[in-house]
Amino acid sequence: MENNVKSVLITEEQLQAKVKELGKQISEDYAGKPLLLVGILKGSMIFMADLMRAIDINCKIDFMSISSYYSGTQSSGQVRIVLDLNKPVKDYDLLIVEDILDSGITLSYIKQLLLPRCPRSIKICTLLDKPDRRKTDIVADYCGFTIPDEFVIGYGLDYDEDYRNLPYVGIIKPEAVKQ
Ligand code: IMP
Ligand code: MG
Repeated sequence: MENNVKSVLITEEQLQAKVKELGKQISEDYAGKPLLLVGILKGSMIFMADLMRAIDINCKIDFMSISSYYSGTQSSGQVRIVLDLNKPVKDYDLLIVEDILDSGITLSYIKQLLLPRCPRSIKICTLLDKPDRRKTDIVADYCGFTIPDEFVIGYGLDYDEDYRNLPYVGIIKPEAVKQ
């Protein structure tokens, strides 16, 4: 598995330090508010698990799963909902937790889907942001790291469903990507 990593972009230590920082900020910003973390499966699962333990105020969690059809490392721009939230959200401040903000198509779609359900508020927390590739005007309210336009794997992020279990974020070797 590690043979297919060209280089480590963000180490385990850097990830843990950043997650602690984000958790502290979120705990301050949402103190006294009904916070519902909405994890976007599957990419956010490791970030979500670490982030929620770095938050020291009451919060609930739920998950959504969206499939964006991928050909290789490029999103096709077509998005479909695979798993929806369990309960109404009108009494909650929603914080969407995502692994990476790339074209922004997925998060724009999710926001459009949740807005008509009239939550108290909706904000976005993304571990990684690739602003060079943005195709929508979406911005993250909380962002761990801004990264260059490279395809990354690990800490929940996959290529063809592999590499999610790498403990760091790495850049995939070009030869490991199917052409
Ligand atoms: P967007 O809709 O283009 O913003 O894409 C967001 C989704 O694409 C993320 O939730 C990831 O699943 C996937 N994605 C985008 N860039 C990468 C990457 O570099 N590595 C792994 N997955 C990625
Ligand atoms: Mg994903």
